[in-house]
Amino acid sequence: MKKAVVIGASSGIGEAVARELSQRGWAVGVAARREQQLEDLVADLSGTAHWQVMDIKDTDNARAGLDALIGALGGMDLLVISAALANPRGERSWEIEKAQIDVNITGFTALACHGWNYFASRGRGHLAGISSVAGLRGNRMNPMYAACKAYMFRYLEGLRLRALHENLDIKVTDIRPGFIDTAMDGTKHIKEAKLLRAIVLPPDKAAKQICDALEKGRRTVYVPEVWKTVELPYQLIPDFLYEKLM
Ligand SMILES: NC(=O)c1ccc[n+]([C@@H]2O[C@H](COP(=O)([O-])OP(=O)(O)OC[C@H]3O[C@@H](n4cnc5c(N)ncnc54)[C@H](OP(=O)(O)O)[C@@H]3O)[C@@H](O)[C@H]2O)c1
Repeated sequence: MKKAVVIGASSGIGEAVARELSQRGWAVGVAARREQQLEDLVADLSGTAHWQVMDIKDTDNARAGLDALIGALGGMDLLVISAALANPRGERSWEIEKAQIDVNITGFTALACHGWNYFASRGRGHLAGISSVAGLRGNRMNPMYAACKAYMFRYLEGLRLRALHENLDIKVTDIRPGFIDTAMDGTKHIKEAKLLRAIVLPPDKAAKQICDALEKGRRTVYVPEVWKTVELPYQLIPDFLYEKLM
């Protein structure tokens, strides 16, 4: 039985991915801060499942928590990092910028690095991070969130290159969702706009697409795929025009 750990699985995309992997026959380990949600999720899954409370801001505790889940599962073939903090009200204080750095960059990096090193010690494995289309360009409402997601693009790409260069069978997948209907309320206005509702995916549908892509070992995945068509034109919009549009 293949073994996966999903960080940030107490709600939203992470929870849906854990459920989908479990349905596909994977043993899963799930982690986040909210203990009750994790306990309920594990109780609801029919296959092998374990949970671990962790706050990824505390990088020592988070890495020890990941080790504990690997121990409980008897190994790890796939690590999915979905945990993140957004800033939906566009607050401008250093405190909220720092909080996002602590979770989305420091916490993410600690776990991605630890997971990659675990896979390197075994010579194989699969690391996946849930970034976002938001990382493609700057965002005036939430500059830090977009910057954190852009950081993920590059860090994951670097780890993928390192694995290739070292002849390690480690796959690295960068998952870039568009708008997914979760509790992360930065997309509330989009989800409520009638015209745009068609591009908002429920988390279970997103999870199916994510798990399909993971099982194919894809490098970069847009969820839904339609966002792939936006990638290049969006990045090519000249600055003067982007500044007017955004
Ligand atoms: N929803 C969208 O439209 C959308 C679009 C693009 C990308 N994304 C990305 O998708 C991922 C999942 O977001 P979501 O939409 O599913 O939102 P969500 O339901 O709010 O899920 C966020 C998850 O991260 C966990 N988390 C947050 N801070 C944490 C911390 N310090 N330590 C450990 N776990 C922490 C939360 O659990 P606890 O609160 O229990 O700790 C929760 O399980 C994020 O990386 C997000 O940036 C979402």
